[in-house]
Amino acid sequence: MKYDKLILCCPVWAGKTPAAINQYMFELKNIKDKEFGVFITSGGNKSQKATIQMREYLDLQGMKFLGQMRLITNDVENEKYGEIFPLFTGKFKASKSDNSQNITEKT
Ligand SMILES: Cc1cc2nc3c(=O)[nH]c(=O)nc-3n(C[C@H](O)[C@H](O)[C@H](O)COP(=O)(O)O)c2cc1C
Repeated sequence: MKYDKLILCCPVWAGKTPAAINQYMFELKNIKDKEFGVFITSGGNKSQKATIQMREYLDLQGMKFLGQMRLITNDVENEKYGEIFPLFTGKFKASKSDNSQNITEKT
């Protein structure tokens, strides 16, 4: 992977991550010590199974977990994502590998 950070986004299918996402994760290379986040959508299932599935695999590969976010269809329809969205994205802005921030701190 040529990027410093990875945000994996996917829907929950049958309580789990879709097979295509699993395949994508298995094929990732050069990811050790890079940072990741997980963003899942679901029709209503509040289980954390899919998120845990992705976190466990990427943790094992040596990636560093930054944050997770889950949106269910009802919340999207009622626009109930205003608070969690900036919380999630904020974790990526403030992380250690953010070069622009490091440059700002040195000057
Ligand atoms: C094959 C399939 C399986 C699904 N399985 C689940 C499930 O187990 N639990 C759940 O909450 N939602 C399930 N969904 C709903 C999707 O998670 C949901 O459609 C997706 O997050 C996108 O949201 P949207 O349909 O509101 O755009 C499933 C959808 C499909 C197409």
